Amino acid sequence: MIKIYRNIIILSAVFLFATIVSCDKDEKEDIPPTVYNPTTYNMEVPQGFPTNLNIPDDNPITEEGVKLGRYLFYDGRLSGRDEEDSLMSCATCHLQSAAFEIGENHPKYPDGHPHGLNGKETPHFPLPLFNLIWNNEGYLWNGFISKENTNLGIPSYGIPAEPQYHLTNIESLVWMGIVAEHEINGTIEMTEQMIRSIDMYPALFEAAFGDKQINIDRISKSIAQFIRTIVSSNSKFDKYLRGETNLSPAESRGLVLFQTEEGADCFHCHGSAGNPLMTTHLFYNNAKDNVFNDPRDRYGVTGNEIDRGAYKATTLRNIEHTGPYMHDGRFKTLDEVIDFYSEGLVYSEYAHPLMEKLRPPYGKGAELNPPQKADLKAFLLSLTDETLLTEEKYSNPF
Ligand code: HEC
Ligand code: HEC
Repeated sequence: MIKIYRNIIILSAVFLFATIVSCDKDEKEDIPPTVYNPTTYNMEVPQGFPTNLNIPDDNPITEEGVKLGRYLFYDGRLSGRDEEDSLMSCATCHLQSAAFEIGENHPKYPDGHPHGLNGKETPHFPLPLFNLIWNNEGYLWNGFISKENTNLGIPSYGIPAEPQYHLTNIESLVWMGIVAEHEINGTIEMTEQMIRSIDMYPALFEAAFGDKQINIDRISKSIAQFIRTIVSSNSKFDKYLRGETNLSPAESRGLVLFQTEEGADCFHCHGSAGNPLMTTHLFYNNAKDNVFNDPRDRYGVTGNEIDRGAYKATTLRNIEHTGPYMHDGRFKTLDEVIDFYSEGLVYSEYAHPLMEKLRPPYGKGAELNPPQKADLKAFLLSLTDETLLTEEKYSNPF
């Protein structure tokens, strides 16, 4: 009984206070209440691309969200620090000039292997950030971040099992990047505090989310929105598919090698004219080794024995710019990769059955002669999309 009375008194007090405040406001300023009305981002699906987009229900893409996300993606203070040597943002490792991968001649990571603010190398080499909105099969080399993942938080990193710390989508990779010791190596609190302290952000958060509140959930959502808008669909190969240009004779011969089983037989795992994403988004063991001890392979996610040594067959779009190649960066050049598929395959019982060239009469690979290797390479280079590499709306807004 006493409790109820107390609650009524508190409620009345709140009501009275609210009335006083609102009267006060009405007298002072006559601004109409602003309605939160963000503009839906017009996400165009390029010709021939799938229409099944991976956008979580609770994070629709808006112009305002993308604008905010672009700033945060490029803001080194996302690290929660502002001294010159401890700035780190997503763009530190995901460079537009390298198709949002690490690229050659990176000022900090000349060998292409990035490390976090504490100097620890990332367990794998980076992945490019484009066309991710079409990936419904899981992110990262092993697909750990996927819609099926019901885990929350990472207790060993001090991240509690709360809904905003899900492990299901691009949003997750934002807060994970902040706390991962081999990346930003910070804390959620430091990042939130730093972003709150920067003058330009409250207004951008208000436009994107309806009020000025700044928290990790909104930081993650806006960066994820920006990343979902990054599309690569304007390579020479795209233009060829749209009937706007012809491939050169070498590129055409390379395409035939790429998408025939008698040829180099790449298309089963990496897409083709019928799948211009140039990835199936699926996981395979592509016969590089016969000993498997990386805890972060596909087996590390599924626990299925057949997934040992399996990784995502990443997109071959912009492959010219995304070396070093493979999850462990073992090949520095495309020529090395082509030599590997031509005569370097290693037998193991885990090699995927689609690695057809492991079987007799081949055994070691597609056995391409030098002109064929040059043709295959010419085709791979036709997958470079200069528009992506230079498009202003993806570039550093600062
Ligand atoms: C220190 C370098 C580094 C920084 C900084 C970094 N990343 Fe990454 N990123 C990586 C590496 C390495 C991978 C691949 C990890 C793996 O799969 O093992 C990756 C993978 C990803 C992927 C998965 C792509 C795919 O196709 O599955 C996304 C998304 C991503 N990063 C987003 C971000 C965002 C957002 C930020 C900023 C908060 C960020 N990254 C900061 C190195 C970095
Ligand atoms: C059985 C499926 C499969 C086939 C067939 C296949 N690949 Fe791959 N490819 C993969 C997988 C899986 C990876 C990633 C492996 C890793 O990182 O350890 C990969 C990686 C690559 C990479 C490096 C990607 C990067 O971003 O680092 C290139 C380039 C490549 N493949 C080209 C080819 C070419 C060219 C062919 C045909 C000669 C081919 N692949 C055939 C599955 C396949």
